[in-house]
Amino acid sequence: LFEQNQAKIKSLHDLDELNQTRINLLGKKGPITEVLRGMKDLDATERPKVGAYANKIKDNLQDVIAERKAVLEQAVIDQKLKQETIDVTLPGDVVKAGTPHILTQIMDDIEEFFIGQGYQVIDGPEVEEDHYNFEMLNIPKNHPARDMQDTFYMGNDLLMRSQTSPVQARTLEVHDFSKGPLKMISPGRVYRRDTDDATHSHQFHQVEGLVIDKHITMADLKGTLLAVAQHVFGKDRTIRLRPSYFPFTEPSVEVDVSCFRCGGRGCAICKYSGWIEVLGAGMVHPNVLTNAGVDPKVYGGFAFGLGPDRFAMLKYGIDDIRSFYQGDQRFLSQFQQEG
Ligand code: PHE
Repeated sequence: LFEQNQAKIKSLHDLDELNQTRINLLGKKGPITEVLRGMKDLDATERPKVGAYANKIKDNLQDVIAERKAVLEQAVIDQKLKQETIDVTLPGDVVKAGTPHILTQIMDDIEEFFIGQGYQVIDGPEVEEDHYNFEMLNIPKNHPARDMQDTFYMGNDLLMRSQTSPVQARTLEVHDFSKGPLKMISPGRVYRRDTDDATHSHQFHQVEGLVIDKHITMADLKGTLLAVAQHVFGKDRTIRLRPSYFPFTEPSVEVDVSCFRCGGRGCAICKYSGWIEVLGAGMVHPNVLTNAGVDPKVYGGFAFGLGPDRFAMLKYGIDDIRSFYQGDQRFLSQFQQEG
């Protein structure tokens, strides 16, 4: 009985079958129980021998079954572990990281430069009052200079700001000069009623700058603009100031950067001049100071408005301003931010 069943038990591969075999062999209706039950009919001298023998077989069978059970249970666990294994050496799914928009990168770079020079960064509203966009800046109603900036009006006195210069007026009005000079920049969007083409967009960006103190000269303006141009374009660039006109600065200048794409010799990008215009600037007009309640006999300074779109186009050789605003990943993903 033992040998026969030992072999059978060892060949079982299923826990249920093993359990059934255990019940068959060792259960109430099994052969061992039957033998033990039949002992009462045996001779008193036979009983201990038969009893001991039957119990020994019972114990041995129990051991074999327990052993097999452990083997089969371990096999179930092994199988499960195998199925649920995660292969940590498999290559992962590549998560594509986004990158700040190229204009954001240029503006961050410009901001970083000015913050390093001790400037405050000040925000202003994009929906602006005629009062700040024009009147405070020495551009009264019917002034011909309003034609320079075709404006989106949203009512008689509300408009989409056509420049970031209104932030100059707003800041001048509230600045407390007893606490020190005023040095600020204001980056942001501006709007003009232009027909979009390769060099015009009805919405673009400016970074306004304003410095007001007691002894600011045009040399300070020129040095500042040269430094920011070299910060963005490289130390081998230089700048050129040309006389110009803005109602809120006197004198006014337009500022060119030397054309770096053709080494100053002239090429199509700079229309064979060797220079490219990148910003407007000047010494703040006394009327602008007076309008904001600042005494022009004591305080004065410079202002500038530079175009980050222009900066980005020149720096990267982008020939269509509309590329910035079309959200085309094939264009935008070329400008992965370093670091
Ligand atoms: N606001 C002017 C423009 O948009 C630029 C400018 C700013 C000029 C500050 C002088 C001083 O054209």
